[in-house]
Amino acid sequence: MESTTQTLHVDLGERSYPIYIGTGLLGQAELYQRHIPGQQVMVVSNETVAPLYLEPLLKALNGFQTASVILPDGEEFKTLGIWNHIFDALLNNHFDRRCTILALGGGVIGDMAGFAAAAYQRGVHFIQVPTTLLAQVDSSVGGKTGLNHALGKNMIGAFFQPRCVIADTNTLNTLDDRQLAAGLAEVIKYGLITDAEFFIWLEQNLNKLLDRDISALSYAIQRSCQNKAQVVAADELEAGQRALLNLGHTFGHAIETGMGYGDWLHGEGVGAGICMAATLSQKLGWLTDSEKKRIVAIIERAGLPIAPPAQLSPERFKELMSVDKKVLDGNLRLILLQGIGKSLVTDDFKHDDLKATLNEYGKANR
Ligand code: NAD
Ligand code: GLY
Repeated sequence: MESTTQTLHVDLGERSYPIYIGTGLLGQAELYQRHIPGQQVMVVSNETVAPLYLEPLLKALNGFQTASVILPDGEEFKTLGIWNHIFDALLNNHFDRRCTILALGGGVIGDMAGFAAAAYQRGVHFIQVPTTLLAQVDSSVGGKTGLNHALGKNMIGAFFQPRCVIADTNTLNTLDDRQLAAGLAEVIKYGLITDAEFFIWLEQNLNKLLDRDISALSYAIQRSCQNKAQVVAADELEAGQRALLNLGHTFGHAIETGMGYGDWLHGEGVGAGICMAATLSQKLGWLTDSEKKRIVAIIERAGLPIAPPAQLSPERFKELMSVDKKVLDGNLRLILLQGIGKSLVTDDFKHDDLKATLNEYGKANR
């Protein structure tokens, strides 16, 4: 293995697994040999990623019985109908319950392939090879898998952990700037929810990340995965603190659903959503004006939107926000901030302040 490889661990008892982060990992046969127990490997990818990375991956899987299924590219295809293509491929190739499903792609492919692994013959082996920044820092780690419904984002799914995560930072070379920025939204999130020191590092090193400085990017991926692994190990099934990882997401998911999946990127919704959560936190008196300004400034510098789209009225926004996995007994719970690096999940906020926040953005957009 190359000397630049970092290995982190997600500590979940018998479901524990490593996260490998480094350059050139996608082509390292030894990693697959170590983590694939059977002979059959189904690679799930999409029509953008497969032409770039399927061939070197299949070369590294030499010796296994491989097949692949190439899905259409886009958040709008994260549906039950397209998901079924994975089962068509598994059954057409007579894959049995010792098979491994390997996700090669961003968060959409990882979520769909992982959910297929959870469901096929009631559960088969699963490996994540994330190829976007967002997937390397967030979606490939922690075992959330699933699909969208027209009425709500990620509403159908399962918790299902991979056997390992192989994050090859070389794959980021082919990612466009908009997708890189989308990944940065989730990176910034970690600094805000629990890791103030990392937030300061991000303020100081954002230009390096935007310039794709490989050592800065590797550090940001490692630190993000460390943060995520810690939260997931403490609360795998989101009974409590794991919800903090959803800072900005209730607002962001409302934007994604309201705009029709694929128009706004997930990370863009999260970026604007973080600004909205900061605005509400400030209205509640939990965040200072200068803290809010720092948050909006870093989101803007990352190249992300700092406000929701004008098309969504405050009323429509509220309606969309009511379809969220954090709603319990009809109560909307939000992740809010009590400082940089200090977050909480709460339903204890004044709904007039939420209304005022939505109205403020509605007015600014008019
Ligand atoms: P994505 O999977 O749609 O990938 C973004 C785009 O980049 C796609 O067009 C893809 O084909 C392309 N792409 C991927 N890798 C590439 C590469 N190396 N070079 C060039 N192009 C490449 O989006 P994403 O931002 O990776 O993931 C967003 C999805 O992840 C959303 O559906 C979101 O709900 C989900 N998500 C899940 C979790 C989780 O915990 N499971 C966490 C965060 C987000
Ligand atoms: N991305 C949120 C979570 O994994 O919990």
